[in-house]
Amino acid sequence: MQESVGVPFSLIVLVSEVVTAAVLLTGWLLGSRRMEFKTHHWAVNTVIAVHLIIVSLWMVPRAFERIGLALSSPLVNWYQLAHDTVGTLALAMGTSLVVLFLLNRGLPLRLLRKTRKLMFATIGLWTVALLLGAYWFLLAWVLV
Ligand code: HEM
Repeated sequence: MQESVGVPFSLIVLVSEVVTAAVLLTGWLLGSRRMEFKTHHWAVNTVIAVHLIIVSLWMVPRAFERIGLALSSPLVNWYQLAHDTVGTLALAMGTSLVVLFLLNRGLPLRLLRKTRKLMFATIGLWTVALLLGAYWFLLAWVLV
């Protein structure tokens, strides 16, 4: 499949992921840090929605295609296994946070305080998944 869609599609995915990560950071810096909850909620909701589409339509099917090969040589394919694991964790945490805020619309400040550490952990894991994805892209398409 990768060969049939080729580098332009992977490049679009890479650029989309960099843009969504930038929106996530903007939501933190211009949103929650300034207590602009509307900006924050708009940013994280958009990021999770866009990201869920990319991951479920592109990355998860690709991961299932490659997981057997990756597990047969885990030391060689460490970055793929790490990317899939960290990416799944980041997405699960981000999605849980978004759902939590959607269900508790009346208490943003209290909820923001309570979930602060989880949000930082999500941004951290998200960044690691993005860096591993970019490394994977470089190995697959640029350094071949
Ligand atoms: C925060 C979460 C994630 C981020 C930021 C992220 C980012 C990226 C980026 C930038 C790429 C390189 C673009 C490409 O080659 O198509 C990539 C590729 C990939 N990702 Fe993710 N990803 C995340 C979550 C996941 C998850 C949950 C899975 C599946 C379990 C996954 C599986 C893959 C696979 C299989 C590829 C290689 C696609 C290919 O064959 O080209 N990713 N990811």
